[in-house]
Amino acid sequence: MSGLRITGGRALSGKIHVQGAKNSVLPIMAASILSGGETVIKNCPDLTDVDAALRILRHLGCRAEYSRGTAYVDSSAMTRCDIPDCLMREMRSSVIFLGAILARCGEAKLSMPGGCELGPRPIDLHLLAMERLGASIEESGGNIILRAPALVGGRIDLTFPSVGATENAMLAASAARGVTLITNAAREPEILDLGGYLRSIGVRVAGDGTSTVTVEGGGSLGSAEHTIIPDRIAAATWVAAVTAAGGELTLEGACQRDLEAVLRVFGQMGVELDWQGNELSVRSPELLRPPRTVTTRPYPGFPTDAQPPLMASALRAQGISVFVETIFENRFRHVPELRRMGAEIKVDGRVAITEGPVRLHGAVTAAPDLRGGAALIVAALSARGESIITGVHHIDRGYENIAEALRSVGAQAERID
Ligand code: EPZ
Repeated sequence: MSGLRITGGRALSGKIHVQGAKNSVLPIMAASILSGGETVIKNCPDLTDVDAALRILRHLGCRAEYSRGTAYVDSSAMTRCDIPDCLMREMRSSVIFLGAILARCGEAKLSMPGGCELGPRPIDLHLLAMERLGASIEESGGNIILRAPALVGGRIDLTFPSVGATENAMLAASAARGVTLITNAAREPEILDLGGYLRSIGVRVAGDGTSTVTVEGGGSLGSAEHTIIPDRIAAATWVAAVTAAGGELTLEGACQRDLEAVLRVFGQMGVELDWQGNELSVRSPELLRPPRTVTTRPYPGFPTDAQPPLMASALRAQGISVFVETIFENRFRHVPELRRMGAEIKVDGRVAITEGPVRLHGAVTAAPDLRGGAALIVAALSARGESIITGVHHIDRGYENIAEALRSVGAQAERID
């Protein structure tokens, strides 16, 4: 198992390129099987989750390659419609392939995605959406088998704006005859990016990025080239890093609109933020104000994925900060690890309260999940002395070449086995 050794107390400086969005490239890689054509995906981040998706595509019979920031998929020779347990276990978000496999093959077989580090991860809304489009669902031996000889457009009312369920609905609707209406759809920027890809292969999609999405499916679909949007959560993580460590960073290729809710909070904390086109310069203040109360919400609210790194940076703030996590049941697993570094944090259910400023000290900590690991990196950068973060495989799922990236902005960081 790999670890990260970070010696804190050094201000950050320089420029960091914001990687392509993990949560955009995964559904688009799933969508690449819809047309039976070729897809070139540019600005594709080099992540273990991307590698897992490539292996799923190859398992399905597609040609799927990745080289220097570009993924290439040829789904013409797709032969299978199942995702085996080992691949499902490796990446829980593999469920995003459900709608596209069903659309392409008329059948889909996945092993039941278990929970994950964030708590139970039901897929009831995904299955509801598939049923609304005419699929039958059978559960046997830990597998879900969906069959839909002919998908027909219909109305899908989501009781929660689930990102994955919205994406699966859009993907299955791409092959459904007639018009599909998705209400209470997720509005995340990644949905808009998926909509852009679907339009480029010939699907008639409208309203993506709003609460009501319509998809007119059943037409012939073609090949496409697509450039992935910047990763707003990776950008938020770098803002948290320089806020905690001190110094000034320039984020290259960030998207101002996607970061509004995140930057509003850092601005309240006294972080200086200046945009020059798609470059954002971030300067950390000597005296950091607490972000007061931060409640995670579906987009355009404050994103749940940015809560852990924000919390770590808020430990340097002068005062009390309250974090209310409304999206996932179990998203404070970074708190015990931060306490090992000297943090004062109280947790009661979905509410965490931090009191600062705290001068963190280095410690051996374990990344509990992807964004919890990001929080430990942020804390280690501001801590006095050396920290060792184990379980870096969690971090590699969502952050490109993390040790090199940290060193490139002046941090003392190295990967250790
Ligand atoms: C996506 O997960 C992201 N993952 C998550 O990012 C992100 O935290 C989440 O959206 C919220 O923004 C990818 O895009 C690959 P949801 P997803 O369906 O689609 C409940 C990261 O760190 N729910 O919007 O799984 C669910 O239990 C990851 O990059 C149901 O009840 O999120 C959760 O409480 C973590 N039934 C809430 O909705 C369902 O059928 C949000 O889930 C589906 C979801």
